[in-house]
Amino acid sequence: MGKIGPARLEPATCRCNESVRWGTELRPGLPTAPFPLHHFTLPAKVFSALKSSMKYRHLGKSGLQLSELSFGAWVTFGQQIDSKTAVELMTIAYDSGVNFFDNAEAYAGGQAEIVMGKIIKNKNWPRDTFVISSKVFWGGDLPNQEGLSRKHVVEACHAALRRLQVDYLDLYFCHRPDPDTPIEETVRAMSDLIAQGKVLYWGTSEWSAESILEAYRIAREQRLVPPTMEQPQYNLFHRENVEHVLTPLYHEIGLGMTTWSPLASGLLTGKYNAGDPGDTRTSLRGYGWLQRQFESDETQQQIAKVTQLGKVAHDLAITLPQLALAWCLKNPNISSVITGASRPEQIRENMKAAEFVDKLDDGVMQRIETILQNKPQAGRR
Ligand SMILES: NC(=O)c1ccc[n+]([C@@H]2O[C@H](COP(=O)([O-])OP(=O)(O)OC[C@H]3O[C@@H](n4cnc5c(N)ncnc54)[C@H](OP(=O)(O)O)[C@@H]3O)[C@@H](O)[C@H]2O)c1
Repeated sequence: MGKIGPARLEPATCRCNESVRWGTELRPGLPTAPFPLHHFTLPAKVFSALKSSMKYRHLGKSGLQLSELSFGAWVTFGQQIDSKTAVELMTIAYDSGVNFFDNAEAYAGGQAEIVMGKIIKNKNWPRDTFVISSKVFWGGDLPNQEGLSRKHVVEACHAALRRLQVDYLDLYFCHRPDPDTPIEETVRAMSDLIAQGKVLYWGTSEWSAESILEAYRIAREQRLVPPTMEQPQYNLFHRENVEHVLTPLYHEIGLGMTTWSPLASGLLTGKYNAGDPGDTRTSLRGYGWLQRQFESDETQQQIAKVTQLGKVAHDLAITLPQLALAWCLKNPNISSVITGASRPEQIRENMKAAEFVDKLDDGVMQRIETILQNKPQAGRR
């Protein structure tokens, strides 16, 4: 069988009676099948993945391809949802073509990785069909359980490998900058983990452009492995960093970007427009900060904009979450938009967003700008 990219091979097969084009519309960059596929027996999972409209983007200048919509574990796994729901969400994501699952040592104190690791093991998904990440920074309260020292970076990697039950992490992020550790120490630790085969690509999250460039410079000078990607927040209300501050890095060092909170923790779904609906992440223990944020004057002004964005979505015959996600996908510098969901119906709705990107033409994008009035200004940094 030829190259099938990120499609999944499982033993079960099905007779493919539909004429499925194994071509660029479905998997950009892959060759078109040289024969009619309706005469071809496809493994069931390959067939369903080919039918999905998910597209794959390179992680910056690297060779790694990520699904443009990915799925993360923050708040939900090991905390808000039970294991059965976690299985359902991961399965829907995977069957929709998601190949990147995001996690961190800090999520639910490590429980999120334990839950995700069990699911991946039980599903027996081939290792070359998914990309898994962890992030290091907040591992505990004791002196060497936090930050980016060589000791914590290495120990957190080993612990994540155990929790996720994998032999290597595809992506390993420094969850935040550590002002108390020299960048050189962290770069060397990451580079060593890559040399040992425990990590494939390392990157940063919420680092300044200057610090990322510093890490890159050190790595180049000392023949170490430079960072490949950054993980910043990006959504309709949070644009400055991705659209302006980090912009030179995409071109200068080929930085990849996996972005977080595309729905601003649910605000951009419109469900907070008439007040807190209850039964969301704001009601969880430890998330009072988010509830207070949603009650702030700034959020109330944003809610007025969400109402107007709802009219744009309505005119396009899509939902607000789909509009917000499709808007993120319009940005070509983004490698993958990391989505989150606490319910199966949410992830089903969100995974359709990629189909609607073309609906956001210049006129629609301008209508959105007029509502938002927050386009980052060139020259400001
Ligand atoms: N690097 C970092 O510092 C960092 C920080 C944050 C997140 N992340 C990563 O990014 C991922 C996504 O972040 P996020 O969870 O904040 O993303 P988000 O898209 O902003 O929020 C997801 C939440 O919105 C609600 N939701 C999602 N789809 C919905 C829909 N269709 N209709 C109604 N409500 C919907 C759900 O919350 P309810 O349960 O409240 O309904 C869901 O859990 C995380 O899992 C994590 O992997 C990274």
